[in-house]
Amino acid sequence: MTGNHAGCRRIAVIGAGPSGLFAAQALAGQDTLDVEVDLYDRLPTPYGLLRYGVAPDHTSIKAVANALAKVLESPRISFTGLVEFGRDVAREELLQAYDAVVYAVGAPRDLTMGIPGEDLPGSGSAREFVEWYGGHPDARPQSLAGVTGAATIGVGNVALDVGRILAKQAHALTTTDMPDPVLAELAASPITDVWIIGRRGPQHAAFTTNELRELTRLDGVQLIIDPAHLEGIDEEGLDRRTRTNLGILRDAAAAPRDPDAPRRLHLLFWHRPVRLDGADRVESLTVERTRLDADVPVADPALAPPPARVVGTGELSTLPVQLVLRAIGYRGAPLPGVPFDEVRAVIPHDEGRVLDAPGGTRCPREYVTGWIKRGPTGVIGTNKSDAAQSVAHLLEDLAAVPPQEPQLNVVDLLAARGVRPATFADWQAIDAAEQARGAARGRARTKLGTWEELGAVIG
Ligand SMILES: Cc1cc2nc3c(=O)[nH]c(=O)nc-3n(C[C@H](O)[C@H](O)[C@H](O)COP(=O)(O)OP(=O)(O)OC[C@H]3O[C@@H](n4cnc5c(N)ncnc54)[C@H](O)[C@@H]3O)c2cc1C
Ligand SMILES: NC(=O)c1ccc[n+]([C@@H]2O[C@H](COP(=O)([O-])OP(=O)(O)OC[C@H]3O[C@@H](n4cnc5c(N)ncnc54)[C@H](OP(=O)(O)O)[C@@H]3O)[C@@H](O)[C@H]2O)c1
Repeated sequence: MTGNHAGCRRIAVIGAGPSGLFAAQALAGQDTLDVEVDLYDRLPTPYGLLRYGVAPDHTSIKAVANALAKVLESPRISFTGLVEFGRDVAREELLQAYDAVVYAVGAPRDLTMGIPGEDLPGSGSAREFVEWYGGHPDARPQSLAGVTGAATIGVGNVALDVGRILAKQAHALTTTDMPDPVLAELAASPITDVWIIGRRGPQHAAFTTNELRELTRLDGVQLIIDPAHLEGIDEEGLDRRTRTNLGILRDAAAAPRDPDAPRRLHLLFWHRPVRLDGADRVESLTVERTRLDADVPVADPALAPPPARVVGTGELSTLPVQLVLRAIGYRGAPLPGVPFDEVRAVIPHDEGRVLDAPGGTRCPREYVTGWIKRGPTGVIGTNKSDAAQSVAHLLEDLAAVPPQEPQLNVVDLLAARGVRPATFADWQAIDAAEQARGAARGRARTKLGTWEELGAVIG
């Protein structure tokens, strides 16, 4: 943790994911105020979803971590891992120790579909699956034994990530940083068919063009799209991304199929999940054909939430799947003692200044950024401008008051509680161990995917 010198403002940033790192970068990179930043995370590793969410086969995005690594090297910033807000340190304590606190904890939960059979073994969330293949130490091992068919619900980028990883053949994944047991499980996967299921049409899909295009280029994977699902779309008024996506989808739907492809990836639009069936685990997924509800204006989401815009037609079909992963969005979780907007699942705020309730009054010296500020949408870069807004207000507010004399020392507090934080040197040791493990396998990195492995490196 940073040492304090006279007149210096001490800032605690909770969460070392992209938004916390961008906030720390903005704080360290300005000259208005003399600041020192303590960047806390519950994990011994920085980067949040950049490390544990971004798909392992998307290596160019992972390179963003290399740029953000410079943030951690700043003399004004100190990384402290293995400290969980709410468990190891409380809101009031941080407010006694720091001039300001920035919450950047992301959105760690997921949504459920609310359909029968959702609790059966074999039904889970994309979040859990992503944590597993991303080597998150909290992840439960996933088994693909006996899984010949799998479905992901939703047509956002997370659904495409998960569908792609499931469909890809083992040789296409061996250069990634996935932990060894994950690669072994995926290599042994008997999967032949993967469905990615959108409850609305292709013109409403949330995925982006690069991610869609990637699906058309997977080695040994036949992409299957029903041309009928692309008919009758009025492109007038659609944005450029959507029109480009429709072009890619039309080309893919019309392309000759390879009957010998070992795996098929079905991009199924206009279907919503109805129920999962199976004796003691998922054996099938029933989906219902949907159509737009003409009574609800599609172009104005403010008038009706997305579910209201389609209606079921009663036409059911059953998919032979043993694994169903819902990729229907993440959700924020309340932090102990910190205001929370239960409806939007975010910390209520006014341009990053924390409020005691939605539309309520200011909580002085508290700020918020990232997914816990604006909800679980946006790519990594979105968090940069988001953090800049919160930090600008923080600096403006602190400049108007004298530095606060710390009433409490967090290092002593944690020691008294028996908490042994991880240091930046600990993270560097993990980083080096992962790179060494990767080098032994001809890869850039192989992740340490369990608490035991991480603990063995940092003692
Ligand atoms: C599966 C997936 C794949 C994605 N892929 C891409 C991609 O390819 N490209 C792209 O641009 N964007 C991608 N995104 C979006 C991107 O990851 C997010 O925009 C970004 O990570 C949000 O940053 P954040 O800091 O708000 O949250 P997070 O990244 O979730 O970081 C939050 C951090 O807070 C820590 N934390 C949580 N609770 C506590 C606590 N109580 N105490 C201390 N620390 C805590 C967590 O350990 C974590 O490190 C992806 C998102 C997902 C879900
Ligand atoms: N490569 C990348 O850049 C990358 C990778 C991963 C994630 N991300 C970003 O991370 C953010 C989160 O991504 P995400 O995929 O979790 O969320 P998302 O983009 O919001 O997509 C969620 C999907 O789930 C569907 N859905 C929601 N509720 C449903 C229900 N009850 N039944 C069926 N379908 C349902 C939505 O359909 P409706 O539209 O009908 O609601 C939508 O297709 C996004 O901003 C994304 O771009 C980026």
